[in-house]
Amino acid sequence: MNNLAIDDSAALYDMDFCPVQKSLNIEPALPASFCNIIGQSRCMQEVFRIIEKVADSDSTIIVQGETGTGKGLVAKAIHDMSYRRDKPFIQINCGAIPENLLESELFGHVKGAFTGAVTAKPGKFELANGGTIFLDEIGDMSHDLQVKLLRVLEENVFERVGGCQSITADVRVIAATHRDLEAAIENGAFREDLYYRLFVIPVTLPSLRERKSDIPLLIEHFLTRLNEAKHTHVSGLSERTVELMTAYAWPGNVRELRNVMERMVVLTREGDIYPRDLPPKVRAVTVPETPPAVPDIAISDEGLCLNTAVNDFEKSLICQSLKISNGVKKNAARLLNIKRTTLIEKIKRHHLEDSFTE
Ligand SMILES: Nc1ncnc2c1ncn2[C@@H]1O[C@H](COP(=O)(O)OP(=O)(O)OP(=O)(O)O)[C@@H](O)[C@H]1O
Ligand SMILES: [Mg+2]
Repeated sequence: MNNLAIDDSAALYDMDFCPVQKSLNIEPALPASFCNIIGQSRCMQEVFRIIEKVADSDSTIIVQGETGTGKGLVAKAIHDMSYRRDKPFIQINCGAIPENLLESELFGHVKGAFTGAVTAKPGKFELANGGTIFLDEIGDMSHDLQVKLLRVLEENVFERVGGCQSITADVRVIAATHRDLEAAIENGAFREDLYYRLFVIPVTLPSLRERKSDIPLLIEHFLTRLNEAKHTHVSGLSERTVELMTAYAWPGNVRELRNVMERMVVLTREGDIYPRDLPPKVRAVTVPETPPAVPDIAISDEGLCLNTAVNDFEKSLICQSLKISNGVKKNAARLLNIKRTTLIEKIKRHHLEDSFTE
C-alpha cells in the first residue's frame, strides 16, 4: 500500500475543502456527550455506562489512563451523578504538593503543629465532608501517607497533623493515576494493601489513538466551545485537515487535541482551517491511501482467465455508472473519467446497448 505524503499544496487546499459540520455527517446512535465527556466510540460508551452504575454506590473508584485522557472529567462526572452532587467536590493533586505539606493539606493541622502553623486548619478530607475527594496522581504519594490514607479508607478516621483527636468524615474517595501501579508495587514504590483497597472499581480510560472515531466529534465540540469563548467565527476544518488529525497519534490525548484546536481557532479567527494551519508534527503525518475498490474474486486451483475477469469488472462498472446516471451516457462517461465516445464503443463491445436507453 502506498503512503501518501501530506502537503498543503494549493490543489489539496481547494479540492479537499469541506466544512467539518457538513463533511463529517455526525449522527451519533448513542448519546455522544455525557456530563461534558465527549465520546461515541464503544470504549467510551462503556465508560459512561460504568459511571452511571457506580456513581451512587459510594465505592472507592480508581481512574486510570494516560495523561490528558479525561480522568479529572470522569471523577467530576461520578460526583455529579451521585447523591453527593450538592456537597463539595474537593480535588487535590498529590504529585504537585511537597511531601511535607501534603499530609496537612489532606488531614489539616492543629495550631503550632509546625513552624508557620499559626492557626488550626482543616484538611481536604474535612472540607469534603458529605461530598467527594478526588486524589489525583495518587501514584506519587509517599509510603507514610499511603499508610495514613489506607487507614482513612478502612476506618474512615484520621487526625490533624500535631493533633490526637480522631476525626471522622463522610467522604467518597476517587483516585486517579497515569502510572502503572502494578509496576510501582513491584519496585516497592506503591503499597500492595492500598492498591487492593483502591481497586474496588477501576475505570480505565482509553488513549485517543485507541478511539480515533471520536476525533471528528471532539474537533466539532472544541470548535463550537472555542468560537464561543474566543469570540471567533471559524466555520469548519477541511476534510483533509480532519483526516490528518485523525491519523496523528496524540501522545497528549484530548488535552493536546484541545490545545491544537485552540491555537488554530485563535490564529485563524474566521473562515476555514486547512492543513497548512496544523502544527508541523500533525501536518507531517502520513495517511495511507484508500485502497482501490477491487472485486473480490478468488483464484481457484484451475486458475482464471484474466481477460474475462477484467472484462466482467469493466462491464459491471459501466452498468453501475449508467444506472447512477439513469442511462445518460454523457454523465456515465464523466463518472468513469472517459470520453462519451469511448463509453459508447465499450457499451457496443460488451453488448450493453439494450440495458439502458437515454
Ligand atoms: N472525552 C472528553 N471530552 C471532552 N473533553 C475532554 C475529554 N477528555 C479530556 N477532555 C479535556 O481535556 C483536558 C484534559 O482532561 P483531564 O484533565 O480530565 O485529563 P487527565 O486524564 O486528568 O490528565 P492528567 O493525567 O494530565 O491529569 C481537559 O480540558 C478536559 O476538559
Ligand atoms: Mg488530571
